Amino acid sequence: MSQDRVIIFDTTLRDGEQSPGANMNTAEKLQIALQLEKLGVDIIEAGFPAASEGDFDAVSQIAKKLKRAQVTGLARTSKGDIDRAWGAVQQAAHPGIHVFLATSELHMKYKLNMTREQVLETAVTMVKYARSLTDRVEFSAEDGSRSDRDFLCRVFEAAILSGATTVNLPDTVGYAIPEEFGELVRYVMAHTPNIHQAVLSVHCHNDLGLATANTLAAIQAGARQAEVTINGIGERAGNTAMEEVVMALHTRPNFFPVATGINTELIYPTSRQVSMISGMIVQPNKAIVGANAFAHESGIHQDGILKNPMTYEIMNPETVGLSANKLVLGKHSGRHALRTRLKEMGYDLSDEELKIVFKKFKDLADKKKHVMDEDLEALVTEGLLRTADAFQLEYMHVTSGTTVLPMASVRMRIHGEPIKIAKFGSGPIDAAFNAIKELTRAESEMLRFTIRALTEGTDALGEVIVRLKENGLIALGRGSDEDIITASAKAYINGLNRMEYLKSHPVEDRQGL
Ligand code: KIV
Ligand code: ZN
Repeated sequence: MSQDRVIIFDTTLRDGEQSPGANMNTAEKLQIALQLEKLGVDIIEAGFPAASEGDFDAVSQIAKKLKRAQVTGLARTSKGDIDRAWGAVQQAAHPGIHVFLATSELHMKYKLNMTREQVLETAVTMVKYARSLTDRVEFSAEDGSRSDRDFLCRVFEAAILSGATTVNLPDTVGYAIPEEFGELVRYVMAHTPNIHQAVLSVHCHNDLGLATANTLAAIQAGARQAEVTINGIGERAGNTAMEEVVMALHTRPNFFPVATGINTELIYPTSRQVSMISGMIVQPNKAIVGANAFAHESGIHQDGILKNPMTYEIMNPETVGLSANKLVLGKHSGRHALRTRLKEMGYDLSDEELKIVFKKFKDLADKKKHVMDEDLEALVTEGLLRTADAFQLEYMHVTSGTTVLPMASVRMRIHGEPIKIAKFGSGPIDAAFNAIKELTRAESEMLRFTIRALTEGTDALGEVIVRLKENGLIALGRGSDEDIITASAKAYINGLNRMEYLKSHPVEDRQGL
């Protein structure tokens, strides 16, 4: 059996960023894009340039930096959106434009207020326009899985005739069932006369927990591009998880005679990076990249694994980058060891950046015997990727105990101006938050506060994630420190900074996405 190639189209930075609260700044997106390129992704959808200045800026920076992967920008079927997308990606080594328009009766009637003929004509005009700018044009029939099959085929045929090099069939609302979706792909292949002049892609959402299954069914039926995100992050219940699709193809080659260009050993470090940067925690039982994915608890399983790992392990953990013998750094480790480990983890730092992280590493190693990967990730994300923030913590002193009323004195810089206050609270974290709230005049509501140890032992870094809401906007904040009260304050301030960013970079109505 010959091995076909499945193109991996990653939309972590576009659809993934649409996860409520997972907004990332340009430096963070650039770091993820570089890592995705190393991972072997073919196409990176870097954002939706018409949505906001921030999106445009991030997509253009990524476009300028990447060498091998195609960089694509999303656009609605309007000249304005397509010009914006082109403006952002045109400096890429391999630029692309992704145009989408809904084709289901529901969307055409209620959302677009367009007839079938208008949709067809608009798709044709806009694909032609995008194609006049670049040779790589993808057309997506939004809500494709709920569209009339024959109309869908007509739109795809017209889009290909107009120059689309890829046509994408999205299950926008995660409604499809694998058997049905595979059948739809077969139907499209059989009833779109020119389908072989383009790549047929699929883009699934996980509302019924079927995104991976639907994507695999589509590949089985002949689709040759999978649109995915790392850790499956994305709008509502998320998108298809890249690691699941790639490892299913890798683990069951007889069933799927197809290959991807993904270097599977970089899957775990990439997953960690995306989780740290976006603040979207990976559930422990998540397939492939969850903390328990390769953990064996029962005695019978452990016994089997010791006798032969294949008894209970269908994949070798090292294949996905979970190294059994992790290099643990400590206070005697030098700059070279730190650089090497960070590089293995996907962080290629300049000398200047290494200097900053090395200083933080030494401070941490003085307090903590073993500095683990999780600690290093926290040092990089907090030390390098955070942008010039509106709110900065300068100093904090907290008193608490069994006989005192918890109190926090906090000094911050608000837009560069130093200011301090002391506040009481029901506990030390509450006191610190009361002080920060007053200093920043924050109006955000705290929807969630979670705290956990990043590694084992009582000297572990504490990691705090907060979820904030203000005027319908959601922002996540992340902070880590050996002191959990400081970690909490850092997370709250990070969340408030992200909220400020969101407020000052309004995103247009991304209707229907
Ligand atoms: O879910 C969807 O339909 C999309 C399109 C833009 C491809 O994200
Ligand atoms: Zn989507």
